[in-house]
Amino acid sequence: MVGFVEKNGVLHCDDVALPVIAAEVDTPVYVYSAAHIRAQYDALAGAMVKALPETRQPMLCYACKANSNLAVLKVLQAQGSGLEIVSEGELHRGLAAGFDAGRIVATGVGKQDSEIAVCLDKGIHQFNVESLPELENIQAIAAQMDKSADVVFRLNPNVSGGGHHKISTGRARDKFGISVERIFEAFEMAQGMSHINALGLSMHIGSQVSTVETFEDAFKKLAGIVTDIRAAGHEITRLDIGGGFPIIYNEEDLLDFDAYANWVNEIIEPLGTEIIMEPGRYLVGNGGALLTEVLYVKETSDRDFLVIDAAMNDLIRPTLYDAYHGIEAVENRDAQERVYDVVGPICETGDTFSQERSLPEMARGDLAVIKSAGAYGFCMASNYNTRPLPAEVLVDGDQFTVIRKRQTYQEIIDKDIIPEWL
Ligand code: LLP
Repeated sequence: MVGFVEKNGVLHCDDVALPVIAAEVDTPVYVYSAAHIRAQYDALAGAMVKALPETRQPMLCYACKANSNLAVLKVLQAQGSGLEIVSEGELHRGLAAGFDAGRIVATGVGKQDSEIAVCLDKGIHQFNVESLPELENIQAIAAQMDKSADVVFRLNPNVSGGGHHKISTGRARDKFGISVERIFEAFEMAQGMSHINALGLSMHIGSQVSTVETFEDAFKKLAGIVTDIRAAGHEITRLDIGGGFPIIYNEEDLLDFDAYANWVNEIIEPLGTEIIMEPGRYLVGNGGALLTEVLYVKETSDRDFLVIDAAMNDLIRPTLYDAYHGIEAVENRDAQERVYDVVGPICETGDTFSQERSLPEMARGDLAVIKSAGAYGFCMASNYNTRPLPAEVLVDGDQFTVIRKRQTYQEIIDKDIIPEWL
């Protein structure tokens, strides 16, 4: 069994006892299981292998916004993954981890000139274009550089998908993609552009989408539009069908991948295009946890607080999305249960990981993990309250390595400048 499991009464990540990591690296620290990440990639790729013909396998482009640590990228690159990026920073990370530029797709509503230029220079697979002004800009930059840009247009299918309104991306009111009406205009425009190859469409309807019917509906919409665009005389040779697959935070249902893959085979495959997917959270989310230590047990007349050394600057999802994350004691897991609010040290009431959660009784110095933190955890961390970014550790079997050092106070302060005139 890989991931976070109890062995001899102590919570482990794969074969490494978490207290060993805490003792060596200190807390708070993100801990990831390489074996879990590999298993997730293989499960998704395997479902596609089962459903689609061998010659029509999709390119899985890991959406590295979920977790862009170089070591995590390397694990996925070694499994055969491509990469989806949303910034020049992610491009540099991808290249540093060994991804071939030809297996990188670039999305994002606000691609900057410099980012477009670097992507063209490195020769990425495609730009997923999100607006007509962006298309004009890519044409201008590509012309200047005498390069030709392969693009697909991101369709805004006007469907509602996703676990929270802040991560739903496919509704007409969302800033993402191009409406069905304007997609035709985009292909017309591209036809007259000297340095643009318009190759197809992309779509990403949201995150934590757990019903296969939502994908089925979106695929049908996409297929209908492909047919109409072809009828209008444009070639479509690539379809990027996005990511958004759910993980377990509490008691959610996972997506039925076999059913998903069958819909891809039934609706998308017959269109005869290259197929691209952009899974993020699913590959890394459940394989990571934030390991933390209890600073104080604070008892009040209203409730009891576990004040831990991790805070909203380390993991912002509960604060930002009211997200549920499981919390577990690392040792003494059979102790009598008590009800706690689990909070961080930051000066905001929103710095709360859970309210009225039943946990084994804990004391100062005890360790706990906040689970399902491998995706959108570290990468959304900040220096709020001048707290250093936490360390990250990768476990593989019985070995572990610090894959990002804890930030030092000096590193944070060094960037500030006191003007001479003060
Ligand atoms: N492709 C595009 C174009 C995206 O915008 C995203 C995520 C993905 C792929 C990957 O989606 P995934 O498979 O991870 O669901 N910070 C939020 C999630 C934001 C997702 C943004 N876009 C959270 O913590 O829940």
